[in-house]
Amino acid sequence: MGSPAIAILGTGSYAPEKILTNNDLSKIVDTSDEWIFSRSGIRERRIAGENETTSQMAAAAARSALENAGLTAADIDLIIVATLTPDLPMPATACFVQHHLGVSTHAACFDLNAACSGFLYALDTAWAMVGSGRYRHALVIGAEKMSTVLDWTDRTTCVLFGDGAGAVVLGPSRGTAEIVGVKLYAEGAHTNLLCIPNGGSNAPATSPTAPVTPRAITMKGREIFKIAIREMEEAARDILAQHQISAAQIDCVIPHQANLRIIEVIAQYLELPMERFFVNLDRYGNTSAASIPIALDEARRSGRVKAGDTTLFVAFGAGLTYGSALVRW
Ligand code: ACO
Repeated sequence: MGSPAIAILGTGSYAPEKILTNNDLSKIVDTSDEWIFSRSGIRERRIAGENETTSQMAAAAARSALENAGLTAADIDLIIVATLTPDLPMPATACFVQHHLGVSTHAACFDLNAACSGFLYALDTAWAMVGSGRYRHALVIGAEKMSTVLDWTDRTTCVLFGDGAGAVVLGPSRGTAEIVGVKLYAEGAHTNLLCIPNGGSNAPATSPTAPVTPRAITMKGREIFKIAIREMEEAARDILAQHQISAAQIDCVIPHQANLRIIEVIAQYLELPMERFFVNLDRYGNTSAASIPIALDEARRSGRVKAGDTTLFVAFGAGLTYGSALVRW
């Protein structure tokens, strides 16, 4: 790129204490562990406390990433939070995070919503901003309190999602580690397949003519499933081709953790064994923008991703947005 190499200097994650198992869910809606596990690969998910906010979870993950990077809040001059479940519609969750962490009030803070692809969108944005030399170190966080946007009577959606946060610190590389590339896409023709159809300006929760309806995700799961596979394969193949890297050269693929069956098909299409994929959705469900950074942190801390490795991130989400990233460690 001509500019200095920018790398992920540290990772961190946070998962709320409360575990909600498939068996617990079967007491709330007409479902079973067998159905959920066989269709999605999910066994359990974490649920944030009633008073636990997205920004608190984000800050916990960020503290851990800062420590892992050997940096402090004083080193950060940019915070981007990818989320579809902000603390409030305004101000940005990133501003709350800045305050929780004690980051300088001069640090730029904003949120970004690309649903489950949000972390990759935020990573690319921060990479450009830090790569320009105008920002030194960025916190890129994916954080979600998905439990607040679920209809807990709808078994087709409430069984799939969970809460949590993951964070990375971006800055000038200290060695050979670097972000090699990011590719982002969106297919706006499919906004109707996965959305929260109320609470925004097109369907305000406080409309004088309409009753107040709670915000809740609606999803055409079967259609999403097919498109997600096509998009993730395209995103993976494009970035590999662009950087002339073969799939076989990838040490670890960290996909968006939505559904094990989707990941298995991607593995088959890329002709890679499943062992090459990092999967933790059995324990967290789909944590949307938090899914890749939580998985990345676990993969690094468990030694699954180590110095010298090349990782491929690939995601899809509402929008429909999708994307991929190549990162060298
Ligand atoms: N328990 C028991 N039965 C259920 C449940 C449940 N929780 N949910 C649905 N069913 C029933 C359906 O009603 C249906 O019954 P019917 O045949 O009598 O009509 C049957 O199970 C099959 O339903 P399908 O929707 O066809 O099941 P499918 O095999 O497609 O799996 C799933 C559904 C898991 C949602 C799958 O389609 C999927 O994972 N799609 C992708 C969704 C996704 O990844 N979304 C996240 C996007 S990321 C973001 O940005 C938020």
